Amino acid sequence: MRLILLGPPGAGKGTQAKMLKEKFQIPQISTGDILRQAVKDNTELGARAKTIMDVGQLVPDDVVIGVIKERIRQEDCKAGFILDGFPRNIAQAEKLSETLVEMNLKIDKVINLEVDAEEVVERLTGRSTCVDCGTMFHQVSRPPKVSDVCDGCKGKLEQRPDDNRETIQERLKVYEESTAPLKEFYKKQGNLKTVEAKGSVEEIFSNVCEMINV
Ligand code: AP5
Repeated sequence: MRLILLGPPGAGKGTQAKMLKEKFQIPQISTGDILRQAVKDNTELGARAKTIMDVGQLVPDDVVIGVIKERIRQEDCKAGFILDGFPRNIAQAEKLSETLVEMNLKIDKVINLEVDAEEVVERLTGRSTCVDCGTMFHQVSRPPKVSDVCDGCKGKLEQRPDDNRETIQERLKVYEESTAPLKEFYKKQGNLKTVEAKGSVEEIFSNVCEMINV
């Protein structure tokens, strides 16, 4: 099973991708997570990406396309994968299609998570993530038992540098200009499924699974 999760920042792509990963036992490939790890590891890729991510712009296509091409060829992707945050524009989508043709593979479903801008701001300004295990919390919808401490591994919780109001507005603008046109792109290919991404995480997950099975 090969899936793409589309949606604005804060739509819940990461949250749903982690649940799909468990259910279908296929890897979640998040370009955002890969880039943040590169920043943390002080690699050349991280140094190139950091300033761009901090202001909410897209990292150059050649960089992320290279990362994805390499990742989907790895052994654990044989049974499928979930792309979370890739592709982000038409150029990336076209390159992905070309690569999949070369590999004799295809995307089964593109799940588009729809959520309004007001909800996005509320979700992202309240989000914190464990620096050690990556578990996500939200100050209202999923608060940690102890402030700034992960319930599971007791790691420190941090806010992402791009989760401030100004950068969130920029990310939303970039989404509308560059990523939203992908809905039409995949609709034409006949595999786009839209899910209303407001409500409980479990309810949304159940709708996502239903869309995957149709
Ligand atoms: P990326 O990491 O992909 O960020 P994003 O797309 O902005 O999405 P988020 O991770 O912020 O949100 P999400 O939809 O995953 O929601 P989540 O589940 O976390 O990209 C970051 C940056 O990297 C980009 O700006 C760009 O610079 C660069 N980049 C990445 N990919 C790139 C690419 N392909 N090309 C170029 N550049 C690229 O949920 C958010 C919060 O809401 C959490 O607190 C969660 O607990 C909560 N929540 C989730 N679901 C619900 C719900 N149903 N109800 C209430 N709260 C909920």
